[in-house]
Amino acid sequence: MTMKHVFHKGSNPELPTLLVLHGTGGTESDLIPLAEMVSPYSNILGVRGNVNEHGMSRFFRRLAEGVFDVEDLIFRTKELHEFLDEAAKTYEFDRSNVVAIGYSNGANIAGSLLFHYADSLKGAILHHPMVPLRDKELPDLSGVPVFIAAGKNDPMCAPQESEDLQQLLEGAGASVQLHWENHGHQLSRTEVVAAAAWFKQNIIS
Ligand code: MLT
Repeated sequence: MTMKHVFHKGSNPELPTLLVLHGTGGTESDLIPLAEMVSPYSNILGVRGNVNEHGMSRFFRRLAEGVFDVEDLIFRTKELHEFLDEAAKTYEFDRSNVVAIGYSNGANIAGSLLFHYADSLKGAILHHPMVPLRDKELPDLSGVPVFIAAGKNDPMCAPQESEDLQQLLEGAGASVQLHWENHGHQLSRTEVVAAAAWFKQNIIS
């Protein structure tokens, strides 16, 4: 397989498989506890980004902080999309029932999956995402539920960026809940609790 990963089989195959995507410098295992909080009986697929930035794993290259290498982003988005097809066959999970949970760089590649493919994700929880790329016509995302957690004082992502992302996704038909925290770019327990409540209401009810 083309991407380093871990797969934990859940006890309820009806539930979505959770695709967990780390932030810059993370690993495939980082967000597993978080996924377990959101849906304890789901399959969990933790994936490591293939890009190495001075020893730190990422899901796509950037030219500077917050400035993405769009060509690489598109290439890596396809790589992850195809990896999911392959993983679904290997681990025998339902490819059409995958929900992403990503943080920062991992949220950005999850956002990019939504921006490029109508059928890659059934839904997504994006912690501190940015707009992955601009001036792109999005696929039809009708009915795709998306939870965005953002920080009002995030030095890496201005509030406008989170609002733009919400608007772009809603413009394609997605139903987006934007959750605000007062702090910065860090992942907080309160936003994970909010994401878990959102998941119960919007994904499995
Ligand atoms: C990125 O994708 O570069 C993020 O938004 C910031 C980070 O991961 O450090």
